[in-house]
Amino acid sequence: MPDPPRTRPPIPADTAAAGHTVHRLAHNDPVNDLALLLSPEGRALLDEVRDTEPARELAVATRLRRDHPAELVSAALGQARLRQRAAAKFGAEDAGRMFFTPNGVEQSTRASVAAYRAGRLRELGVTSVADLCCGIGGDAIALARAGIRVLAVDRDPVTAATARANAEALGLAGLIEVREADVTEVDTAGYDAVFVDPARRGGRGRVFDPEAYSPPLSWAVGAALAAPRAALKIAPGIPHEVVPAAAEAEWISDGGDVKEAVLWFGTGAPGAVRATLLPGPRTLLGRGLPDPAVRPVGRYLYEPDGAVIRAHLVAEVAEEVGGGLLDPTIAYVTADEPRPTPYATGYEITDRLPFNVKKLKALLREREVGTLTVKKRGSAVEPEELRRKVRPQGPNAATVFLTRVAGAPTMLIGRPLR
Ligand SMILES: C[S@@+](CC[C@H](N)C(=O)[O-])C[C@H]1O[C@@H](n2cnc3c(N)ncnc32)[C@H](O)[C@@H]1O
Repeated sequence: MPDPPRTRPPIPADTAAAGHTVHRLAHNDPVNDLALLLSPEGRALLDEVRDTEPARELAVATRLRRDHPAELVSAALGQARLRQRAAAKFGAEDAGRMFFTPNGVEQSTRASVAAYRAGRLRELGVTSVADLCCGIGGDAIALARAGIRVLAVDRDPVTAATARANAEALGLAGLIEVREADVTEVDTAGYDAVFVDPARRGGRGRVFDPEAYSPPLSWAVGAALAAPRAALKIAPGIPHEVVPAAAEAEWISDGGDVKEAVLWFGTGAPGAVRATLLPGPRTLLGRGLPDPAVRPVGRYLYEPDGAVIRAHLVAEVAEEVGGGLLDPTIAYVTADEPRPTPYATGYEITDRLPFNVKKLKALLREREVGTLTVKKRGSAVEPEELRRKVRPQGPNAATVFLTRVAGAPTMLIGRPLR
């Protein structure tokens, strides 16, 4: 291959340092970039630039361009940045061996969630899955690691090539067949299950209407109903009315952050609802309880995990802790006893005040509170602004809940239960 010209203008230092350079570093021929990176020279260069800090990119690029083609240097630095970003989802070890595209990093499932889902499919007896919309292979990898044979399909050529490179990089090529195709044209007969993770990003950011997913949710549901078993990954904010009657709906959080909802088909539990908390997993099953009653503020307050709230299982948690709601529209549970539960964080409430910044400031001063955690539900107050106004000082810590009690703006002050 002839040496490409070395006249590329330098990357401006400000963008290199600002953390927004990935798309600038990447070339307009990503298929070629991936091929370059997979060559022996590309792999060696990737190792060399692995730990390059953003602020050093310009200097490193200038040095490397003396001995390597400019487009390879750019591709390697761009890939190193993507790998660094992907470490949060895949762990540094896997991310350091995998290949990514900017969209692929954003859209891929984090390893913990993918492994949980793959484990559930395995428990259901699934040994082969058609992964429709495989992206760079986040789910396909977890499925293969659970011992499942995978047909991984994506219509985007660079994305499919990246998924193939990842299957090889992680030693899973024997279990993952990657196919570049439109999922609506793939025959999935013969697979124990289909998994669909539609693209939820349009040109202008996230897509909220499930029919605007690519492919649309209705297509994915049709594919699910035609297969022995299926799992569809969807946005956690999906309205419950959209869940088909044949599906079991599961909301999943990891480390307290809600990550996704999954519609399961063929689990033998149509209409069931569950919330699963990772790590664990800890799964709370819905029992169809009516909304909890509103009751007076007790000594303990429970903040349910986001997956519990999204799954509409606050009543199940309220029953577990023997509590009720502070307000009919707010997902804080109040109770008289400290009953630890994995599904909610418990607090002992020491004070209750009507919303009043001056009173809060005086109370915190009296208690020598220097570390203030502000939580809110049903309040428009900005936590940062409140913290600025009360200027907490002192050796103690406290949590203030900005909420409503019987419709009135209220502050509840407390500390986490041990
Ligand atoms: C959310 S990503 C999948 C992420 C993947 N589960 C992972 O963990 O890496 C969705 C993918 O669907 C692909 N896609 C969208 N519509 C498609 C279609 N009709 N046929 C095939 N692939 C499609 C996009 O190219 C994108 O890579």
